[in-house]
Order: sequence, then structure tokens, then C-alpha cells
Amino acid sequence: MASTPSAERVASDGSPYPDRSRPSFEHDVRAMFTHIAVRYDWFDHLASVGNDFLWRPRALWDLDRFHAGAPRRRILDIGCGTGDLTVLASRRFPQAEVVGADFTAAMVERAEARTVRDANRPRVRYARASAMHLPFRSGSFDIAMSAFVARNLPSLPDAFHELRRVLAPTGTLLTLEITEPPSPLVGGLFHAHFDRVVPWLGAAVHSAGPYRYLPESLKFLPKHDEMLALLHRVGFDRVISRRQSMGIVTAYLAGAAAPGPAPRHR
Ligand SMILES: C[S@@+](CC[C@H](N)C(=O)[O-])C[C@H]1O[C@@H](n2cnc3c(N)ncnc32)[C@H](O)[C@@H]1O
Repeated sequence: MASTPSAERVASDGSPYPDRSRPSFEHDVRAMFTHIAVRYDWFDHLASVGNDFLWRPRALWDLDRFHAGAPRRRILDIGCGTGDLTVLASRRFPQAEVVGADFTAAMVERAEARTVRDANRPRVRYARASAMHLPFRSGSFDIAMSAFVARNLPSLPDAFHELRRVLAPTGTLLTLEITEPPSPLVGGLFHAHFDRVVPWLGAAVHSAGPYRYLPESLKFLPKHDEMLALLHRVGFDRVISRRQSMGIVTAYLAGAAAPGPAPRHR
């Protein structure tokens, strides 16, 4: 059983409440995901009103088209959580070996448990790893992906550099995230839900800190065009986005046409 890291910053009910401006941010994010791991899946379905069942398969469908014609032998799902996207990717790409990696032990344990009886289990492997220091050789994956992880990272450019490093010359990066919808009307409904309903629901059925952190974490993400520009800056030369649910969620797809940069962290 994984030990529970105690958060340095907590909400009034004692639950972890990460604050990006504090040095303990990364540690507190891990404490938060350890704290919510057991109920993560069902609260995810509840908070997204079931839409999350559509978001990941649709993003993989977009990825499949974007990556057409390129090898898909090894796939990395970073921040795999309980393994939703990892398992879906193993089904979508039946020739691939899929590695799900996450820095929260409690999440990796749940991912392992849910995959144990899956027919694709022999091609799926899980590991503890931080997106900021990936323990993989440069150029070792054809596809790297993450779902709902980007807003939790201490530095998105550094994480993208690291993901770019582990991708093969023809590799593709998929980043799926909750995003600000372009329509003000949809944006109003989106903020009412994420800024008010989700934190209230989270505190009522689980704990306060993580679900107050959720809307705060979204403010950190670069806006749509800035995200595309950032992906270009870290060395991807083919970058597109595919919005879902009127822009509440966006899949960013980035293709590398040249070998990745030298490692930045070692
Ligand atoms: C919101 S959950 C998403 C899980 C999964 N990708 C999904 O689609 O349900 C975010 C996950 O990212 C992981 N995570 C956050 N920061 C990370 C980091 N720096 N390195 C690795 N994993 C990280 C957390 O432990 C958590 O499991």
C-alpha cells in the first residue's frame, strides 16, 4: 500500500489544497491525487456529467488520424491516473506496447488493478514517473499523451520539452485538457459549473481542497493560441487542436518531424 504524502497546504477540512505559488506545489499536487485516488473515477464522471466517457475516445480518434502512416509501436500515457486513457489506447492501437506512468503511487495501483483482467494486459505496463523527469531514453516512444494533467504541472514548457525528448523523430504528442470555451454564453455556463457547482459538490461528497483547486488550476493554462504557439516553440512543427463539447475540452496534437532536443534535466 502506498504511503500518503501529507500536504503542506491544506483546506479548512484538512484536505490537500495545492497553491502554485508555493515551493511545495508539486508535492501538494501528489498529496492531493493520493487523497482523491479512491473516488477519482466516479467523481470525474459526476463532475463532467458523464462527458468524460466521450472525451478520451474522441481524442484518440483524432490522434489516430493525425498520426496516420507513422509507426505506433510504443505509446506513453503520462499522468495516467487510474489508467482510463492507457487502456483505451491499448484497444485503439492493437499493435502497440502502452506505458502508463504517473507520479502518484495510489493512482498507479488502481490502474494496475483495473487492467489486470483486460485482454490487452500483456501490452500494457505501468510505472511511477514524473512528467518533469521522465525515466525513458530519448526517442523511445512513437506517441506520448496526457489527459487532464497539463494544468497540474509546475512548468508546462519544461514538461513539453521532456515529452518531446522521449518522442521518436516522427512522433506525436496529444495533450487533452479542460479549456475555456470560445463562446461567451457557453463560457458563462462553464464557469458557473466549474467555479461554483464542482467545488460545492466536491466539498459536499468528498473534500474541499481538491475541488477548490480545480477551477484555480485552469487559470494557469495558456489560452488556445498561446498553447499552439508553445508547442511550436518546444520544437513541434505540425500543431493542431480539436475542440470537443463546445470547447470545454480541447485535444492539442503536435507532430515532430525532426529528432527531439537534448535532455534538459540531466
Ligand atoms: C486529473 S488526473 C487525470 C488522470 C488520467 N489521465 C485521466 O484521464 O483520468 C491527473 C493525473 O496526473 C498525475 N500527475 C500530476 N502531475 C504529475 C507529474 N508532474 N508527473 C506525473 N504525473 C502527474 C496525477 O497523479 C493524476 O493521476
